[in-house]
Parts: sequence; structure tokens; C-alpha cells
Amino acid sequence: MTHRIYYFSGTGNSLWAARKIQESLLDAELIPITKEMPAELTAQTSENLQMPESIGLVFPVYMFKPPRIVLEFIQKMPKSNYIYAVATCGNSPGKTLSVVKNSLLENGNTLSAGYIVSLVSNFIVLPKTKSDSYVEKAFKKAESKTQEIAMNVQKKTSHFDKEMPGVIVKPVSWLLFNPAYKRIPVLGKFFSVNDKCNHCGICRDVCPVQNIKMTAAKPVFLHECEMCFSCISWCPQKAINWTPLTKYRKRYKCKGISKNDIVADRYYKNK
Ligand SMILES: Cc1cc2nc3c(=O)[nH]c(=O)nc-3n(C[C@H](O)[C@H](O)[C@H](O)COP(=O)(O)O)c2cc1C
Ligand code: SF4
Ligand code: SF4
Repeated sequence: MTHRIYYFSGTGNSLWAARKIQESLLDAELIPITKEMPAELTAQTSENLQMPESIGLVFPVYMFKPPRIVLEFIQKMPKSNYIYAVATCGNSPGKTLSVVKNSLLENGNTLSAGYIVSLVSNFIVLPKTKSDSYVEKAFKKAESKTQEIAMNVQKKTSHFDKEMPGVIVKPVSWLLFNPAYKRIPVLGKFFSVNDKCNHCGICRDVCPVQNIKMTAAKPVFLHECEMCFSCISWCPQKAINWTPLTKYRKRYKCKGISKNDIVADRYYKNK
């Protein structure tokens, strides 16, 4: 394969974007980022493997930053020539691309291009349900953006989307997001499962980091949560909540991505 796209996706937006870029590139392989990546999927310079022309990183924005698992993965990445990042988000990317750029630099790599793809927020804690027409428009716009990204990747263009101004990002990060981001595994303890649970095991199957264990009583949340909201979105019984705040919120479903797509996406983890 000429191009390689590593991606992380909780509820499917980033998987959708990664697939769209893959479709436009024609000759690209998609690899989900998991906690323990098999060496053959991260190595590029080994004798038997051809170095891809481009490496893409596609992931959601969490509190103005990339997910922790993506930052950990970046530190394990081998040296590569053309790396681009695609951050999917609601509408507030913060300085996510700059965080990726700096993280790559720490590892001796350079970010050649960075893109923001605004879709729809899956952070259902905030009461911001979007209308069908808003969702339709957002995905249409995002689709053209993925085509533009693929074209730039083919040409190895340098590009950096405009990020949010520091006067907004800095105070919000300092007061709210940075302290919360550091405590993401702790925040994962605020998930609860109510009596509507029918033990179907879907929450376990859609979790990208094996943070949910089925027990005879109820699913149990462990301590590695990434706060991706996949479990809460896909529970067919609406039995999972994160604090009482999500009780009456509509669960987010990414247009064009099914539960089976998400479960299949966890293939490397479940193997
Ligand atoms: C814990 C959490 C924090 C988030 N923080 C932001 C944010 O700071 N800005 C934003 O625009 N969207 C934010 N979002 C929304 C996601 O970035 C967005 O819905 C993304 O496309 C989800 O991708 P996925 O479906 O691949 O997981 C957040 C979502 C979660 C679950
Ligand atoms: S997905 Fe929902 S119903 Fe199924 S086991 Fe998990 S909590 Fe229970
Ligand atoms: S426990 Fe739920 S929110 Fe946490 S990583 Fe797993 S699926 Fe995502």
C-alpha cells in the first residue's frame, strides 16, 4: 500500500473521515490505534516492509487535545517523511493540531499537514442536539474536506488549518480542560449502568481500550477509560450514563457508521 492511515475513533466520526480519505486515496490501508499495536503494524523500515509514502493520523478532539492514546502512539511512531493529522470535532478544535505537532517533534518527526474536520459533537453531556439538516450539511462539507485532504496527501502539500485563538483556548484549558484531561481515567469512574441492562455485551465489544468487563451482575468499568463515549452511544437499552447529566440526552450515532462497523474496528484488540 502506498498510504497508511492510523486512526482512533470512539463513536465513528473519525472512522468515517478516515474511510473517506482512504476512498479518495485509492491505495491506502486503515489501521486502528490500539493500546498494544502489533510491531508489524507500526514498523515501516523493517526489511520486509515497504515504507508508505504518507502516514495519516485521524482522531477526535477531546478537550482541545488529541486523545491520550493517540499521544502515546505518536511517541512510538518510527521516523516518517510525510505525516498529516486530521482532527474531527464538534466545532471547537482548540490547539489540537499544535499539540500533535509538538508531540511529533519530541519524537523526531515533523507534522507536514494538519486539518480540522468539523462534524457533530458526541459529547452528549452538553445539551446541544443538532437538527437533521445541520448534521446533513456538516457531513456534506466534511466529505469535500476529506477529498481535499486526499488530494493534498497525493501531492504531499504542506498545510495547516487555522486553530482557535489563544485568548479563548488558554483560559478554558487552564481553568477547565487541562485539569479534566489529566483526570480522564478518573472521570471514567462516573459511568454507571442501571437495571435496564440486559447483559448483551455490546458496551464491552465497542470499547476501544477493553475498559469494560462483563460480570454476572453488570458490566464493570475498569481504569483505562479514554472517555470516547462509544459505550454510552451504542448501549441498546440506554442503560449507561455518565453522571446524571446524560440521563435524558439523545445518544449520538455517527451517520454512515453502524455498530458492526465499530465492533469490527476493534478487531485487533479483540483478537
Ligand atoms: C470527552 C470528550 C471531549 C470532547 N471535547 C471536544 C472539544 O474540545 N471540542 C470539540 O469540538 N469537540 C469535542 N468533543 C467532540 C468530539 O471531538 C467529536 O464528536 C468527534 O468527532 C468524535 O469522534 P469519534 O466519533 O471518532 O469518536 C469531545 C468529545 C468527548 C467525548
Ligand atoms: S450495552 Fe447496555 S445493555 Fe448491553 S451489557 Fe452493556 S450496559 Fe448492558
Ligand atoms: S469505557 Fe466507554 S467511554 Fe471509556 S473508553 Fe470504553 S467505550 Fe469509551
